[in-house]
Amino acid sequence: MRTQVGIIGAGPAGLLLSHLLSQKGIDSVIIESRSRFYVEGRVRAGVLEQGTVNLLVDAGLGQRLMKEGMHHHGIEVRAGGESHRIDLDSLTGGKGITVYGQQEVVKDLISVREQQNGEMIFEAQDVEILGIHTKKPKVRFSQAGDQHELECDWIAGCDGFYGVSRNSIPESEIRSFSREYPFAWLGILVEAPPSSDELIYANHENGFALHSMRSKERTRNYIQCDPHDKIEDWSENRIWEELHSRLETIPGWKLLEGKILDKGITPMRSYVCETMNCGRLFLAGDAAHIVPPTGAKGMNLAISDVRYLSAALVAWYESKSEGLLAQYAENCLRHIWRGEHFSWYMTKLLHKFPDGSLFDERLQKSELEYLFRSEAASKSLAENYVGFSFE
Ligand code: FAD
Ligand code: DHB
Repeated sequence: MRTQVGIIGAGPAGLLLSHLLSQKGIDSVIIESRSRFYVEGRVRAGVLEQGTVNLLVDAGLGQRLMKEGMHHHGIEVRAGGESHRIDLDSLTGGKGITVYGQQEVVKDLISVREQQNGEMIFEAQDVEILGIHTKKPKVRFSQAGDQHELECDWIAGCDGFYGVSRNSIPESEIRSFSREYPFAWLGILVEAPPSSDELIYANHENGFALHSMRSKERTRNYIQCDPHDKIEDWSENRIWEELHSRLETIPGWKLLEGKILDKGITPMRSYVCETMNCGRLFLAGDAAHIVPPTGAKGMNLAISDVRYLSAALVAWYESKSEGLLAQYAENCLRHIWRGEHFSWYMTKLLHKFPDGSLFDERLQKSELEYLFRSEAASKSLAENYVGFSFE
């Protein structure tokens, strides 16, 4: 088998890269370890920055997104029995965010790749990357018991944090940074209408909680839990009890319950692999960096990487120019580190740190008070939340 760009992973990064390349007449093959059913059903991110929406719309992927996506002009932060609305609209000169599930983005992308006969290989096993320092790198994998080798000009590692791509770079060449957090998020998808028009981020003495949504009929709620907790430790009663206590801190506000359709626990970490390119292998999205989900940045950063990678590959195919490929990591990393900082800030602001000192608690309280009282602090949060533009 042969293609121009071999793409590992059918998450938002890999699928979008394949689509953007095909719009410029460049062939790619996507190799994914999971089934299409699994990939389309995986419940994850929900918040798209305006820049992400614009890119998807410009790429012809706006049909369902514009109809079903919910544009939000603000978010609410609750702490210490008070509520503070961050008016994204007025603080950022008219920008906002769109709530549209990652799995919907993935479905839209798979559908468009399918219509255009783009090759997607699902349920690939034993995926291996070979010869990244040669001009013809290869992806070796097996599927349904048969061994295959895909020869490429370039390989894009879009296989998430636990994929094989990053590990194909010699360890001595990897420059990386990481931070673990002493908590995780338990997320549920619920058949119930949203209890609020906007997302609610809550700081509570029991821990963080978030009320989000997917549609007029479905909500998505998260609670901070112990990173060692198993999902079986959390009965439905216990989940609802904690959500009610942590979110219902404003007189008269009630959280609507409903049937839980999906639940899972996600660990939290910050990680950046600055070595986003090695020979003919490029990393994009969670394969190169992870943020704690509090700032809603992960998928937006993955899409930002793909914007740079697709432009760099197109320039190479059109004029054999290597300039943008050489600048790829540097261009992406400005956005990545901004997203890392903001996600760390939101995480620090809103979570209960089990190992935190009283001094840390006082600092957090003061930071929240500053946010609630200072327009400059709200403006900074808003500017980062909708997506900071370096242009
Ligand atoms: P992934 O989506 O992880 O895709 C990688 C793909 O590669 C997967 O399909 C995987 O099966 C496949 N793969 C893995 N290993 C192999 C292999 N060896 N061979 C072949 N294929 C392989 N981000 C936001 O922007 N906004 C949010 O609101 C937000 N909320 C979040 C909430 C939660 C609870 C979580 C967990 C994440 C959230 N994120 C959010 C982060 C976002 O989901 C990720 O950043 C995003 O999925 C990254 O996309 P990706 O394509 O890089 O990686
Ligand atoms: C959602 C996830 C986030 O991480 C976040 O900050 C806001 C919303 C969500 O899944 O809806």
